[in-house]
Amino acid sequence: MFNKRVKVKDLLATEPANQEVIVMGWVRTFRNNQFIALNDGSTNNNIQVLAELGTFEDALLKRITTGASLKVTGELIASLGKGQKVEVKAKTIEILGDSDAEKFPLQPKKHSLEFLREKAHLRFRTYTFSAVFRVRNTLSFAIHKFFYEKGFVYLHTPIITASDAEGAGEMFRVSTLPFDNPPRNEDGSINFKEDFFGKATNLTVSGQLEGELAATALGEIYTFGPTFRAENSNTTRHLAEFWMIEPEMAFCDIEDNMNLAEEFIRYLIKYAMDNNREDLEFLATRLAEEEKQLPQDKRSELGLIEKLDFVLNNAFERITYTDAINILLESNHYKKKKFQYDISWGIDLQSEHERYLVEKHFKKPVIVTGYPAAIKAFYMRMNDDGKTVAAMDILAPGIGEIVGGSQREERLEKLESRMKEMHIPLAEMDWYLDTRRFGSVPHAGFGLGFERMVQFVTGMTNIRDVIPFPRTPKNAEF
Ligand code: 4AD
Ligand code: MG
Repeated sequence: MFNKRVKVKDLLATEPANQEVIVMGWVRTFRNNQFIALNDGSTNNNIQVLAELGTFEDALLKRITTGASLKVTGELIASLGKGQKVEVKAKTIEILGDSDAEKFPLQPKKHSLEFLREKAHLRFRTYTFSAVFRVRNTLSFAIHKFFYEKGFVYLHTPIITASDAEGAGEMFRVSTLPFDNPPRNEDGSINFKEDFFGKATNLTVSGQLEGELAATALGEIYTFGPTFRAENSNTTRHLAEFWMIEPEMAFCDIEDNMNLAEEFIRYLIKYAMDNNREDLEFLATRLAEEEKQLPQDKRSELGLIEKLDFVLNNAFERITYTDAINILLESNHYKKKKFQYDISWGIDLQSEHERYLVEKHFKKPVIVTGYPAAIKAFYMRMNDDGKTVAAMDILAPGIGEIVGGSQREERLEKLESRMKEMHIPLAEMDWYLDTRRFGSVPHAGFGLGFERMVQFVTGMTNIRDVIPFPRTPKNAEF
């Protein structure tokens, strides 16, 4: 029975010829006891179902309420109403699931994003969220398509690991030891030898190190999976569980790496523009409405579609970290003491600095290279100056850092001495060092934060609104 249903998206593109169709979906609105706006999630456009007066019993009509699910059999006819080409003139209407209009949390009116976040189990039923998650789906597919067509191997890196790839110590521990009374060593520390894996383990913060192992054999690989960071950041750009895409390429330097990242971002935008045009136009209108609430100087200069077009058609700016610091120091913003954090060579750029560079100074995405070694991870390749590393961060308007990557240190001695300096346990990372012992090659890669990319494409300002079930400090609902 169910496989005979036609999706609303397809129905709307069908020539009406009084043919019989079956359509199923959820009621968005019911007007004048006659016109049902039915949505099945295949598109933001509803199909109008006409329940002609006098055809259906009152008891049934009463059950056609916002949120109820229906199966409708009827004729596809040309619509007389405005705004749609076709409609379904109902012959039979079956209520699949009732929805008590008094209790259904989503009323046929505009709800705030904050309210909908509390109702994240139902927010898929709204225009905004169904559009966002269709775009997210398209972008996921485009990621695989991009790399598949380039001959990259999709590598599944482990979720549970015993290493801290970023060396930042922001890990969620994985253990089956009893919390109340864990086995202890003589010195009082916890004895992880008795734990499930016989050692301390955690959820992965990045698949990069395993990615490097495969890239130095398969040539070019990418990972696309969930990543976990126990950083206590309550911002509009941080999640404790997010998805990351990490390509890793052998025979590749920082220049090739930047070129690939730029091409990749453009490809994803173009793919969404070509395949989700209606959803993006809906989201552009939503964003424009939202921005009307902001003071003039906080609004974007470009609408969502114009912004995406702009990124497609203009090369990213490429500067060094040292250039970035100089631009910031020379800015009026700095001279007028408008930055909260001070600026000098060696600092980690704060998001206010990144946003100034991208939104005020260059007004386009910027790739920053050559960061001080001291503020970057152990695996990045040391530049000849002995102070900076071949790192690259891509900063995007409205988002800040969207990509972090680098050329990797392929020289064994240099890598070992860097790891010692940074107190990375060499013995435990012997497997990693083997790639540098046997046929080491120049290689590079980067990580694109998937949710930040979805934010960029959909114009959603809060990262919690582009992942179905956000995990953030003090929140793991659903
Ligand atoms: O800059 P990050 O920490 O780099 C790495 O993990 C490298 N191992 C990547 C690589 O070279 N293979 O993270 C990469 C990207 C960031 O630029 C950001 O877009 C995203 O991941 N990201 C987060 N997104 C959401 N919530 C968080 N807490 C994030 N932390 C990083
Ligand atoms: Mg980073």
